Amino acid sequence: MDNSTTVRIANRKYHFPLIEGTEGEQAVDVRHLRAESGCITFDDGYGNTGSCLSDITFIDGEKGILRYRGYPIEQLAEHSTFLETAYLLIYGELPDQGQLNTFSEAVLSEAALHDRMQDFYHGFSQDAHPMVMLSAGLNALGSYYIKYGRNKREKELEAFDRIAALILSKTRTIAAMAHRMRQGLPFVYPKKKLSYCENFLHMLFSQPYDEYIAHEDVAKALDVILLLHADHEQNCSTSTVRMVASSGCNLFSSLSAGVCALWGPLHGGANMAVIRMLEAIREQGDNGDRFIEAAKSGEAKLMGFGHRIYKNYDPRAKIMKEMCERVLRVLTHAENDPLLDIARNLEEKALHDDYFIERKLYPNVDFYSGIILKAIGFPLNMFTVIFALGRTAGWISQWHEIAADPESRIHRPRQIYTGAKQRDYIPMDERV
Ligand code: SDX
Repeated sequence: MDNSTTVRIANRKYHFPLIEGTEGEQAVDVRHLRAESGCITFDDGYGNTGSCLSDITFIDGEKGILRYRGYPIEQLAEHSTFLETAYLLIYGELPDQGQLNTFSEAVLSEAALHDRMQDFYHGFSQDAHPMVMLSAGLNALGSYYIKYGRNKREKELEAFDRIAALILSKTRTIAAMAHRMRQGLPFVYPKKKLSYCENFLHMLFSQPYDEYIAHEDVAKALDVILLLHADHEQNCSTSTVRMVASSGCNLFSSLSAGVCALWGPLHGGANMAVIRMLEAIREQGDNGDRFIEAAKSGEAKLMGFGHRIYKNYDPRAKIMKEMCERVLRVLTHAENDPLLDIARNLEEKALHDDYFIERKLYPNVDFYSGIILKAIGFPLNMFTVIFALGRTAGWISQWHEIAADPESRIHRPRQIYTGAKQRDYIPMDERV
């Protein structure tokens, strides 16, 4: 079969190869388009543009399929843990017990931060957003590992195993400390014997006089939330990490940039926006029916719905919904949360309404995650931080895919210029 395509531009024909992926997805390889035709492609928002070849995550948006290194997200959510899945994403294969023990020990032993990092928090205003502190904290962390954080790629790659483990661990500690600083509470040091999520909950919620002991279902729910958020191919924040990595930048700073991209309300900030939306609906005495009409008229967006890639149910949303029902049975104080009833009503109405059906708008990963995080006791401004904590595993794997590729080039898109034609400078006294 001729695996190429022909493009006609200004009465000339150009032939370009077709690239086919593992699952049969195809791309026109236009890497020589400009050199041969003088033309570039234009694809505002990159909705039809592949930026890389990647072995890490596969998504079929039409079928609602998500796989990490070939393993279906449903199986990983049921049988794996966040740390085991982080290993899979970073190293490409499921670990044997010895590898998992070594990796877990490396992550869990790296939980503490240099004591001077505590001063770092005092440079922020009391109400600084935790995502600001997380992004800055990652860059600050890099300054404590100069030889890995100074853009010397060969040194970074030699030490990659150690850096990956310490970033996975210390990002969680930076996040917990950001929360404590905002609460005006003393920092809580990590404990070695606790699991990744138990330690995180301990650092977040333990009081000087009362240690927080996580219920196993709560720790499990948080572990699944981190696992579900771990990677999602070339989304906005991951593409940012790859963009920064392509310049030769170190892992700490590349992740710091990814945190900033994730913070946007159309991306990782959506889980906060979902709760704000549900609370606004409740305050207006609406059960969601009026809000659905507002979303259909364009007056509002149904946050937690819709996705650039999924034109079917986001597979993570299904798992999150089951997790939500299970955790709320344990967190009895939240079991009758009116926001859950509103969320269920919004979902029920939207799934049967032509406006959403025609536009293939289904619940995404953020629709139910916020309700679980709120029930566990996270303040709203920590929701996107939890997303970032999970996505750190994917960002590390995606950074490494570029960093370890000797053929990788700096990312530098082109543009179509639509500004003023050439004109001469106008002296100040001649300007009108
Ligand atoms: C994440 O990329 C990833 O993989 C992201 C992510 C990850 O894991 O990294 O999956 C995480 O970011 C999930 C998405 C979280 N965001 C939200 O829940 C915010 C609400 N969703 C929308 O803003 C929107 O759906 C986007 C941003 C997610 C997707 O936007 P697109 O693909 O650019 O779609 P669009 O804006 O072009 O909308 C197409 C139509 C429009 O209507 P028409 O102009 O055709 O009449 O659908 C409408 C939109 O108005 N629409 C919505 C809607 N989303 C799209 N209408 C109401 N409510 C919505 N949520």
